[in-house]
Amino acid sequence: KLISVTWDDGKTTNYPHIFLRDNCRCSSCFDPQTQQRSISNAVYHNYANATIKTARVDDKNDKLYLEWINDGEHTTSNFELDWLKAHRSITYDDIEVNPVTKQLWGSEMKNNLPQFDYNKILNDDSELHRWVRCMLKVGISLLVGLPEDIGQVKKFVNRVAYLRRTCYGPTFHSQSKGDHVTTVAYKSGGLALHTDFPYYNNIPGIFMLHCVTAAKQGGDSQFTDGFKAAEQLRASHPQYFKILAETPVEHEDTGTDSYEFSLTAEHPIIRLNENGDLKQIYYGDHTRTSRIDVPHYKLTDFYNAMTQFLRYAYSPANIIQFKLQPGTLISVDNFRVLHGRTAFDVSPDNFRHVEGGHVDWDGATSCMRVLEKELNIDYRTPNI
Ligand code: OGA
Ligand code: ZN
Ligand code: ZN
Repeated sequence: KLISVTWDDGKTTNYPHIFLRDNCRCSSCFDPQTQQRSISNAVYHNYANATIKTARVDDKNDKLYLEWINDGEHTTSNFELDWLKAHRSITYDDIEVNPVTKQLWGSEMKNNLPQFDYNKILNDDSELHRWVRCMLKVGISLLVGLPEDIGQVKKFVNRVAYLRRTCYGPTFHSQSKGDHVTTVAYKSGGLALHTDFPYYNNIPGIFMLHCVTAAKQGGDSQFTDGFKAAEQLRASHPQYFKILAETPVEHEDTGTDSYEFSLTAEHPIIRLNENGDLKQIYYGDHTRTSRIDVPHYKLTDFYNAMTQFLRYAYSPANIIQFKLQPGTLISVDNFRVLHGRTAFDVSPDNFRHVEGGHVDWDGATSCMRVLEKELNIDYRTPNI
């Protein structure tokens, strides 16, 4: 039950009958206006037995015509050959390589930070497209030339998608608000390396920090590629890697800021995809609770695993540290890059003000695809 198509380049794709039935593009199965399946309740139709009786390609060689049996009232389908060609990875022997391969980095990144001009990115779509691709690939970038005033995070995020609101508001301001605050981030102490909001189930994808006023002393920013640290751990201590990938760790944040909140979520420190590739890092000692989902006799191993991960994260060969300058905005992939900050003294002449905000990955990748269509960029193009 296969239709075999051999293309001009000599490659063959085998389309199972059930695949062609399920993806029928006729007007009762698929709505051309919305580009969505219009068939109501596809599973209910149970077309698993649908079988192709005849198949032919038309004279112009641009359509495949099919006749069905065992498919109730539904007797024919036709497919544009271009559509079939675009969907030829169905058989898994010709899967497109993901064009955005992550480029892992270490301390050399300090002098190689991908840099973008704020005014250019606000006005030039190909520059914005380049930025999203850079965030996917490198996971860190610096915008320069921003006004030294609040509101720029929102302005930039609106260019990409829209702000991801959190318990700390649409954006947050860290300007040492005294001791009566809900988060260590609003105090003046250091912040250990972390990814933001591990106490959410739906974690904001990209973290942005705009420096409005830099502290004269302290308050430096730190960044490390969590995927690099995780790969180093996988290579040197596979058992520790396995523990961090398999142990759920709980995070919590409660208090009142933009409203009264009580947030809790559990994640492993390292999340893998179905192929065992790195998918997401969740790390935050400040908000980690005392609950770790392992039997007591495995706890020491868990702590050893976490410690070894942090050794890589903080290793001088990996971490970068610098003072964010007023009028610059740093963006990091919050599924991958850990960030932190050194402590600073609070005094009238050592004032520090940063504004932070987040955008979801769905918003950023949607922006990328829309721009690819507009700019006629083939998404398979590597190294844009
Ligand atoms: C935070 C944070 C960094 C800073 O609030 O989560 O990482 O430089 N802040 O204040
Ligand atoms: Zn149909
Ligand atoms: Zn943070």
